[in-house]
Amino acid sequence: MNVLVTGGCGFIGSNLVKYIRRHRPDWKVVNFDKLTYAGNLENLTELEGDPNHVFVRGDVGNKELIEHLVRLHGIEAVMHLAAESHVDRSILGPEVFTVTNVLGTQVLLEACRATGVKRFLMVSTDEVYGSLGPTGSFTETSPLQPSSVYSASKTSADLMALAYEHTFGLDVVVTRCSNNYGRYQFPEKLIPLMVVNALGDKPLPVYGDGGNVRDWLHVEDHCQALLIALEKGRRGEVYNIGGGAERKNIEIVKGILSALSKPETLIKYVKDRPGHDRRYAIDPAKIKAELGWKPAHTFEQGLAETVRWYVDNRPWWERVMSGAYRQYFDTQYKARLDQAAA
Ligand code: NAD
Ligand code: TYD
Repeated sequence: MNVLVTGGCGFIGSNLVKYIRRHRPDWKVVNFDKLTYAGNLENLTELEGDPNHVFVRGDVGNKELIEHLVRLHGIEAVMHLAAESHVDRSILGPEVFTVTNVLGTQVLLEACRATGVKRFLMVSTDEVYGSLGPTGSFTETSPLQPSSVYSASKTSADLMALAYEHTFGLDVVVTRCSNNYGRYQFPEKLIPLMVVNALGDKPLPVYGDGGNVRDWLHVEDHCQALLIALEKGRRGEVYNIGGGAERKNIEIVKGILSALSKPETLIKYVKDRPGHDRRYAIDPAKIKAELGWKPAHTFEQGLAETVRWYVDNRPWWERVMSGAYRQYFDTQYKARLDQAAA
């Protein structure tokens, strides 16, 4: 099979491209990525010289280029991961979230329709469902109630993909996954940010009371689910993906400090994120029963392995955090700590 993966140089995308090359050695993967601050070719060094991995730099909003690539490489399936992916950034600058996540997805869908792509996997998120109270979990029929600009843009893309199935007959499958963690995650998201800060003996900024809950899944378990959904998912269906590992943020931060033998005095409670969703929890019963997926990692084992990876790969995160990103990060990070002090 010839597959085009968008966003294949980001966190999940780069893990996915490598996962596909390992588990489907006869497939050709065309990796299409704009290389924003979050996309990094260094995530893919182990594929250097691999004739079945082709990298093309481009924007999902470039219809002509995508149509050309689909024809040139005989693309049969598209796995769409390219996105602006961080809630905090969507608060600081909403526009690019609409351009890439909403308009970019629609243009990509149109290119797939025009060229007769056989299957389109829309990689969505559990954040489309909004926030939960202390009990219950999201099923595929839970109401869509996104509350951040990021999640609203992803909901639009998710629904646009389903509309292309319904209206134009494009073969679409949608997945909605919970929070991922693992190697190559950009150090702006909770887990890598806290590891990197702790390693530098810097304060760890915990929003609000630290009691917000996320349902964590190891990125390789997500990659496995995406491959299964691509191959076996039913057209027009939505599949929730989650690992049943609900944790409060503060528990995770303390776990990281303990793994690194750093003191809890590094924890700094800061002003809450505006519109901060309180709790996410996924019910993955459908993908388990229908497609036979189950996660392989426990959270404790996966977190320990991830922390170790960041300890061992300092050159990687120092490089991706340098330059323009460093400026953005230092400004934002300082602002968060200042807000706490105010
Ligand atoms: P990421 O930010 O690490 O990577 C995004 C990638 O998309 C980067 O390589 C970036 O260069 C690329 N990109 C951005 N704009 C582009 C454009 N206009 N054209 C082409 N490429 C572009 O994100 P991630 O955490 O790997 O998430 C990947 C996908 O999975 C996203 O769609 C996200 O919404 C979804 N998702 C993420 C999580 C999570 O916990 N990280 C959970 C569920 C779903
Ligand atoms: P994040 O990794 O940004 O993912 P998402 O917002 O998509 O769930 O954040 C995970 C949780 O961690 C979320 O409740 C916000 C919290 N958080 C902090 O407390 N401090 C931080 O510096 C960051 C980045 C996140």
